[in-house]
Amino acid sequence: MCPPEHFTVEYAINPWMDTSVPVDPDLAVKQWDRLRETLVGLGHTVHVLPAQPGLPDMVFAANGAFVVDGTVYGARFKHEQRAAEAAGHRAFYESQGWQFMAPTETNEGEGDFAYVPDAHGGLILAGYGFRTDPAAHAEAQEVLGRPVVSLRLVDPRFYHLDVALAALDDGNIVYYPGAFSVASQRVLAQLFPYAVLADDTDALAFGINLVSDGYHVVLNHEATGLAHKLAAVGYQPVPVELTEVRKGGGSVKCCIAELRH
Ligand code: ARG
Repeated sequence: MCPPEHFTVEYAINPWMDTSVPVDPDLAVKQWDRLRETLVGLGHTVHVLPAQPGLPDMVFAANGAFVVDGTVYGARFKHEQRAAEAAGHRAFYESQGWQFMAPTETNEGEGDFAYVPDAHGGLILAGYGFRTDPAAHAEAQEVLGRPVVSLRLVDPRFYHLDVALAALDDGNIVYYPGAFSVASQRVLAQLFPYAVLADDTDALAFGINLVSDGYHVVLNHEATGLAHKLAAVGYQPVPVELTEVRKGGGSVKCCIAELRH
């Protein structure tokens, strides 16, 4: 995770960003701290990447890389404004002894890649249409040695895969069908017949932008409908407030890069 010390909305690269809406910087840091404490309280180790001035979106740490089985596929951001973030992530992984693979194709890390370890022996789900180039899906498959299923995103409000789909445990996912092309919806229905389906209210409340340990599901507090749905099928929802970074177009998952050994 990377603290929102320099977080602002000073450019708009997704439909949620409005440069005329003010951000409360102290509240942003307070809410982020609470998210970090929540993860630690659930037994996770959280590494903190130093925030860099001039990189307001660096709080969205999920976009910096995608890690599977100890191998790190680095990010290459689509927008110039975020390009320099990649080096900070790379430095972290290299200093910690991870096997880092630099990308040649445009991709925004876990923003557009999800991993489901027990689905078909380990399946990577990958989004394209707004940020990540489909060529990066093939590159990720070569680097990570897992099958990659390409899914086309069609609604600009769901510009990254991680606002439309998330792994709930080692074998199942939650997704919002309306974010995907009809063909990609069919692919998801075939691969995950028991998936939890989110509705547009859940999705627009950033409910799917969640992190789960297989039981506890940490999600945006506004997504009350999805929290009930998840509780009804045996998960434990853990709501957190992230009103400030939400103004940048992200919530829980966007703030967290998952390290998979
Ligand atoms: N303002 C950031 C952008 O548009 C938000 C990124 C959200 N991150 C995510 N993993 N969806 O790039």
